[in-house]
Amino acid sequence: MEIVILPSASEIAKLVADKVQKLLKIKPNLVLGLATGSTPIPIYDELVARYEQGLFSFSKVRAFLLDEYVNLPFGHPQSYLEVIRRCFVNRLDIDPNNVHAPDGTFSDMFLSCSSYESKIKESGGVDLQILGIGIDGHIAFNEQGSSLVSRTRVKTLTERTRQDNARFFNSTNEVPRHVVTQGLGTIMDAEHIVLVATGISKAKAVANTVEGAVSASCPASILQMHKHVTVVLDDASASDLERQDYYRSTFSAKPSWQSI
Ligand code: PGA
Repeated sequence: MEIVILPSASEIAKLVADKVQKLLKIKPNLVLGLATGSTPIPIYDELVARYEQGLFSFSKVRAFLLDEYVNLPFGHPQSYLEVIRRCFVNRLDIDPNNVHAPDGTFSDMFLSCSSYESKIKESGGVDLQILGIGIDGHIAFNEQGSSLVSRTRVKTLTERTRQDNARFFNSTNEVPRHVVTQGLGTIMDAEHIVLVATGISKAKAVANTVEGAVSASCPASILQMHKHVTVVLDDASASDLERQDYYRSTFSAKPSWQSI
């Protein structure tokens, strides 16, 4: 795991956008794993700004979302497909047909989940997965206690997650109880995973993820078992890390030609 601690969300966004830009040069038909939530928004804004400057095209990019609510009506403004369209994919030249989300309106749950797994596989797999983290250490909608080798499936949200997400709805009652989410095993198949966290509310989850034991009680801790993970943090979210000084000195001594 590489831990990068930067002073602000905008510097985090630049670092991650640099990586995407570099990958796009090598592979214009990049397969991107996209996260919803508030944390990645500055990254998407930075990518859109660079696209508008003509620095790259997303015309051949394929994208996969991590998760989706179950049974929100098609086109509901808070469905994650709609959210990612609004905040990112409608703002650049990606083909909307190449942006995929798990289907939360399935009639056959098993078929729907396995066909999402197949779609990811047929694309060649996710090259770069952008991830946020919940304050309890969940990634995507893999709540505490999720199997560390789980695949795409239906999960029940905790009350904590429903309350956290109520800000996007009129009340907690409106937040669906069920979701379809890539499993921890599905996420672990990505070639490179970039987990981003900002703010003091994430400090404990970040410390458990990076320096705690690998445990289903902190689903993100499974990332310790991945061959290429970069955890990009601001000072506040890094504040509970015991080895902060080491991470900072390692990153500042990194050769300039070497990206994350
Ligand atoms: P956030 O959500 O980026 O809005 O904090 C992260 C998550 O719950 O996975």
